[in-house]
Amino acid sequence: MNKITIQTPDDWHLHLRDGAMLQETVPASARCFNRAIIMPNLVPPVTNADMLNNYRERILAALPDGQSFEPLMTLYLTNQTTAADIKAAKAAGAVACKLYPAGATTNSDAAVKTLTALYPVFETMAAEGLLLLIHGEVTDHEIDIFDREKIFIERYLQDIVSRFPQLKVVFEHITTADAAEFVLAGPDNLAATITPQHLLLNRNDLLVGGVKPHNYCLPVLKRNTHQKALRSAVQSGSKKFFLGTDSAPHEKSKKESACGCAGCYSAWSAIELYAQVFDDLGALDKLEAFASHNGPDFYGLPRNSGQITLVKESWTLPEQLTLADGSLMVPFFAGQQVNWKLAAE
Ligand code: DOR
Ligand code: ZN
Repeated sequence: MNKITIQTPDDWHLHLRDGAMLQETVPASARCFNRAIIMPNLVPPVTNADMLNNYRERILAALPDGQSFEPLMTLYLTNQTTAADIKAAKAAGAVACKLYPAGATTNSDAAVKTLTALYPVFETMAAEGLLLLIHGEVTDHEIDIFDREKIFIERYLQDIVSRFPQLKVVFEHITTADAAEFVLAGPDNLAATITPQHLLLNRNDLLVGGVKPHNYCLPVLKRNTHQKALRSAVQSGSKKFFLGTDSAPHEKSKKESACGCAGCYSAWSAIELYAQVFDDLGALDKLEAFASHNGPDFYGLPRNSGQITLVKESWTLPEQLTLADGSLMVPFFAGQQVNWKLAAE
């Protein structure tokens, strides 16, 4: 197959950042995604309805004329979040709340320190129809970084999904066979997003032959057996898995640093890289459901009405991008060849 047309996809996990960066990130995602779940880990984080409304406006102000894109807003949970905050966020159009264990990743220090203390808030979310999006890693210093996802399932996630059957839970950016198995075997209120980098790469791509900071993200890439399990999960066609890029830009100098930031800026190539993975797996017929059906179906939102076409045509990503303010960013897969390309409309 050299060409595939699918219903317009959405990105169910996206970091757009703020300020001048929006001029770069919003058009990059809007080129192929009609909607995206917008992560709230700004500085300061999006913890109330006013902040959420203001952030949505800043995003829409960065959308070029002629492009359409709907930001689906999320609230950042903390141990100070109240039922009133949840209701106000819902009234402001939020579709979900994001749970970061404190310290798990970028701008998560203000997030959740005692997870079980949020259970009353989860009740309100379920009643209001807001989804719970979880960064599923424990943060205990003594727990090895490669085991943090598996232990989060055992300690927290199992209990949350069984205790709150009315609460829809998305296990975000899963990275392990343990997570894929847990989601597949789990109840209907549980689903997961999978990133392009966790389907394409494993920890060798981060560490062999020198540290590759642009392949560093959290949860960190795992061993290839886990990568294979994620590939099998999408190949299975299960409706519990859907597209969430976790595209997460950082300035080049902050990635190529003695203490480099986590995040792959994949918006420039994400849909093409997913197509490449599904093609490699002989599963291009499963791409449309993963990219365009399973997400809206789980969220209870309508599927998009438009279409996009991808053609099997090689192109090479730029080595770096220069933003309007002169700052530099290195896109995911920089300088590398991609085999699929979004066709012009
Ligand atoms: O790699 C990541 N980058 N993982 C996250 O969970 C957060 C994200 C970011 O905001 O940079
Ligand atoms: Zn993320």
